[in-house]
Amino acid sequence: MKAVIPAAGLGTRFLPATKSMPKELLPVLNKPVIQYVVEEALEPDGVDEVVIVNSHEKPQINEYFEVDEEFEAMLRSRGKNAEADAVHAAASLPVTFAYQDDPKGLGHAVLCAADNVDDDPFFILLGDYFVPDRQMCVNMATVSKEHGGCSVIAVAPVPADQVSRYGIIAGECVGALPGMDATGEEEGAVWKVTGLVEKPAPEDAPSHLFIVGRYLLTPRIMELLRTQGPGAGGEIQLTDAMERLLAEEEMYAVVVDPLEGCDTGTPAAWAATNARLALADPKQVPAFKEALGNATL
Ligand code: G1P
Repeated sequence: MKAVIPAAGLGTRFLPATKSMPKELLPVLNKPVIQYVVEEALEPDGVDEVVIVNSHEKPQINEYFEVDEEFEAMLRSRGKNAEADAVHAAASLPVTFAYQDDPKGLGHAVLCAADNVDDDPFFILLGDYFVPDRQMCVNMATVSKEHGGCSVIAVAPVPADQVSRYGIIAGECVGALPGMDATGEEEGAVWKVTGLVEKPAPEDAPSHLFIVGRYLLTPRIMELLRTQGPGAGGEIQLTDAMERLLAEEEMYAVVVDPLEGCDTGTPAAWAATNARLALADPKQVPAFKEALGNATL
């Protein structure tokens, strides 16, 4: 089973940094953002390959996931064995590449991985968000299994005045994750999806549950994406193809706490994520607090 990570974007929110460095390689502490997402993608049972949809403008991402024996040998010759091991571990992750050189939207990016995804359900993980405990996709797989292998997405409550930034679902709560008694918009509740709309005006939003950026979809979505026309913002929207999928197949949604995950989509969110992970790592806490305590502007 495959997982797809769309990563062909220009990273304009991080300019000028992203002029010469892909935003996916921005570090959170000492590891690039995309490595956290790849490691999360590999957590559910059965996922054995991660397809990164890159653009040819960002070969640095490919290089990061390639073994460089000479570099590792140089590190070892200097006694840097732990560092060499870390470099080797990243390069050994089961990552392959597809390409989207013409950015036409998220739906188009996913379609670019069609030849890499077999005729199996697959995960999609948006790359500017990662879940440190890696359980969100695992829970989605559990719900899919309970419902005959159907599509499952992660959703979370969003204030009414922000619905137009996201994909919003319509549906009804039909249960909860095993072992949880959540209902409504509580974390762990499971919804049957009856509609999906990308970036609706507040008055048109069918609920306040937005798509968080984690999808487990049946391969039928690729066929629908082939004929999907542009939607919100003139882009080929994954949400629109999912709305068409609903006419043919059942789909469920798991309500998550978005704070389970870390946002790296803007400089402020990325800085907060670095702080959050530094404070969660006993090896980093003292130095981090000291550095912050002495900070002046
Ligand atoms: C994309 C999806 C949207 C989803 C969002 C989550 O939008 O199209 O449905 O809610 O990611 O971050 P984008 O952020 O690319 O505009």
